Amino acid sequence: MKVHIREVAPRDGFQSWPDFIPTDRKIEIIRMMIEAGITEMETTSFVSPRAIPQMRDASEVMAGVPRNVCIHSPLVPNLKGAQLALDSGADKLVVVISTTDAHNLANVRRTVEESLIDLKAIFELARERKKPVMGAMAVAFGCPYQGDVTDDQVYRLADAYISGGAASVILADTTGMATPPRIVKLLEGFTKRFPTIPYSLHLHNNRGTAMANLYAALEAGARTFDSALGGIGGCPNVPLAAGNLPTEDVVFMLEDMGYDTGVDLMKLIAAARHLESILGKTLPGQVMKSGPRDPKLAAAVCGITH
Ligand code: COA
Ligand code: ZN
Repeated sequence: MKVHIREVAPRDGFQSWPDFIPTDRKIEIIRMMIEAGITEMETTSFVSPRAIPQMRDASEVMAGVPRNVCIHSPLVPNLKGAQLALDSGADKLVVVISTTDAHNLANVRRTVEESLIDLKAIFELARERKKPVMGAMAVAFGCPYQGDVTDDQVYRLADAYISGGAASVILADTTGMATPPRIVKLLEGFTKRFPTIPYSLHLHNNRGTAMANLYAALEAGARTFDSALGGIGGCPNVPLAAGNLPTEDVVFMLEDMGYDTGVDLMKLIAAARHLESILGKTLPGQVMKSGPRDPKLAAAVCGITH
């Protein structure tokens, strides 16, 4: 059975890295991930360069990445971002709105209602340009400012996206506040209300529950996950943000469980290790350190000798 991976390191990971990563290095990593079999990614984001300086090279990144082998779906926070992203050749737009006013204000300086006003124009533009929109729902499992988020807050935002014409949505645990029963409960309610809409789960690891959450979601029927090479990532507007699920850890576990991710684990580990050398800091990923199960392959890709 297939599981689809949406790679988010080039957006969610790079956005939070303190030093500017040179554009050609970003492109190098993106190329390696595509070479490893990644077919969809948040390649960058078209946001205010003052808000997120790391993403100021969004158009250059888009101009330098291989096309037609991977769906490039940059994140956009408003109409201006959507215009810039489509002009740079985005295949799909990921629009982000938080489920709570408090996080949306911190992230994009708008209330949820204000963001929804922009959303109408974004949908119109995307329709004109024949590109799908994916609606990301940030802090769907808990808000660092408000605390608990009600299921209705999530459904209201999902409804706005879906009735507006979103082709798919993202349920994002931006803050790593989810636990398996919360995942199962929200997914049950969500799939009952919106049975035909494809969705991805975006799981951060702030409290060490991300992989358990993925497993719970998998058992509940989820078949698309966001993850980030090396486990980098974190919302700049979440205090003490932690990384995403490392893509190579996810691929390792899923493939061993018999799922088909279409991703070459060895090539992905090599990309994660290359990213670590570029960034010059130990990354959170585990499989990039321990390697695959086969000791010979582990030795080859991670230089481990027992
Ligand atoms: N891309 C590039 N520049 C943008 C932009 C975009 N999508 N949206 C606005 N700008 C520019 C405006 O042109 C303006 O520039 P100027 O001062 O040179 O005239 C400036 O940013 C301010 O525009 P304004 O509409 O008033 O935005 P703001 O200051 O209220 O900020 C956002 C709102 C949404 C643009 C900003 O908060 C943002 O980019 N947030 C992104 C947060 C993020 O990426 N979080 C992590 C991912 S979840
Ligand atoms: Zn994230």
